[in-house]
Amino acid sequence: MPEQHKVVLVTGGSSGLGKAICGHLAAKGHTVYGTTRKVSEQPINYRLIVMDLGDDASVRHAIHEVISTSGRIDTVVNNAGLGIQGATEDLLPEQATALFDTNVIGAHRVVRAVLPQMRKQSSGLIINITSLAANFGLPYRGFYSASKAALERYTETLSMEVKPFGIHAVTLQPGEYKTNIGSNRIRPAVIGEAYKAGYGRAMELLGGSLHYSRDPVEVARLVERIMGTPRPKTVYYAAHGKQRLAVLLKKLLPGRFFQRLMMLEYK
Ligand SMILES: NC(=O)c1ccc[n+]([C@@H]2O[C@H](COP(=O)([O-])OP(=O)(O)OC[C@H]3O[C@@H](n4cnc5c(N)ncnc54)[C@H](OP(=O)(O)O)[C@@H]3O)[C@@H](O)[C@H]2O)c1
Repeated sequence: MPEQHKVVLVTGGSSGLGKAICGHLAAKGHTVYGTTRKVSEQPINYRLIVMDLGDDASVRHAIHEVISTSGRIDTVVNNAGLGIQGATEDLLPEQATALFDTNVIGAHRVVRAVLPQMRKQSSGLIINITSLAANFGLPYRGFYSASKAALERYTETLSMEVKPFGIHAVTLQPGEYKTNIGSNRIRPAVIGEAYKAGYGRAMELLGGSLHYSRDPVEVARLVERIMGTPRPKTVYYAAHGKQRLAVLLKKLLPGRFFQRLMMLEYK
């Protein structure tokens, strides 16, 4: 058992980053619940429970299950999320709405369901997994950047509102990690002729970047570190090299210059 045993809920515990976070924290002796829309097989050291982020009742039911089984809930990692690709003009409003409903409103549903318990405990930690993409508009992934930027600003406000109750809310921005996110991305039904070449090049680059995608366990270790910090920072980065540098350049460079660099990267 770790010195400070915690009850942790990780949304999207069936795959990728969430699975790594669940496995790692459970191995460290915490009580971990991961969520999925459909339980196909129970992992060895943590429990998967059903939660559909798009359904308020499903979210409330899952949170109730954690609290009634473990008596409390110390840490929530809002990790479940979707990707999207496509030229902005090609993507339908319904597709963008579906993305925001999972990546932003889904996290909000979870937050609303856990806060009454955390306020009762006078403690709690909410870690919202955003992305480095929150810092800039990525070509052909604009709605993804927009959804993660929205979750950043949402968390910034939330953090100030819940601090008086002894609750911390922070974001964690990963760079590229090896997960299933690529296969689950929302895609345009029709790729417009005008964007075919640019979109194709961007997707080639994205596919190629899998080579340097990193092991999700790095993110899991960072989550563990945040949980052990009495006064956490507002934003954490899990990124290296060129990806981490881009965040710094975005802050320092004039906008047009930064966009030129980004377009050079995307040829
Ligand atoms: N991988 C990266 O390089 C990277 C980089 C930056 C940020 N991120 C962020 O990290 C988070 C995890 O992504 P990942 O890369 O690990 O992707 P992943 O392997 O595709 O896993 C996504 C998880 O989210 C769950 N999920 C998706 N839609 C859901 C919904 N409507 N309701 C409930 N659960 C839902 C899935 O659960 P079920 O399908 O089992 O229901 C799955 O467990 C996402 O927020 C993503 O944006 C990833």
